[in-house]
Amino acid sequence: MSQAEDHEGTRRDFLYYATAGTGVVAAGAAVWPLVNQMNPSADVQALSSIRVDVSGIDAGTQLTVKWLGKPVFIRRRTEEEIAEARAVDVSALPDPTANNENLPDDVPATDENRALDDTGEWLVQMGVCTHLGCVPLGDAGDFGGWFCPCHGSHYDTAGRIRKGPAPRNLPVPVAEFTDESTIKLG
Ligand code: FES
Repeated sequence: MSQAEDHEGTRRDFLYYATAGTGVVAAGAAVWPLVNQMNPSADVQALSSIRVDVSGIDAGTQLTVKWLGKPVFIRRRTEEEIAEARAVDVSALPDPTANNENLPDDVPATDENRALDDTGEWLVQMGVCTHLGCVPLGDAGDFGGWFCPCHGSHYDTAGRIRKGPAPRNLPVPVAEFTDESTIKLG
């Protein structure tokens, strides 16, 4: 079997449905092929950075955008969500590392090491469950963050895995504010 045939076959086998959390979801974002999430093709990788206007996101909601073929959750957190995330004992977490591409690999999974800004109001993370690649639901699960319905993984308000089979915290991609209402991914 050629590589292309194999790729197509695998794509058919692993289609997952994405379900919207709160907020706006990018058009065409209904289905995410797992293989593309794990192995974006060269042409997709070439679109390595995008800018997102976040001025319309209210506290307590999130925007889901498509970037490099994957969903990215951009959440504007409430003070309660931030306080809850910052009260957690990091040493007891299943994945004690921040899993933040902006920081060294082994930094601890404090909320400060995952949030985009110092106040913690903004959290940007890949909307891809670290178990097998489903798209978690927002405002759901036992820890008030995200819940992956595929096999029951619960993430907290900082996107850290707390319960279920997922091994890692939701990945935080390279991101930064370029002005007060624009976030650049990549
Ligand atoms: S893919 Fe999310 S729990 Fe299995």
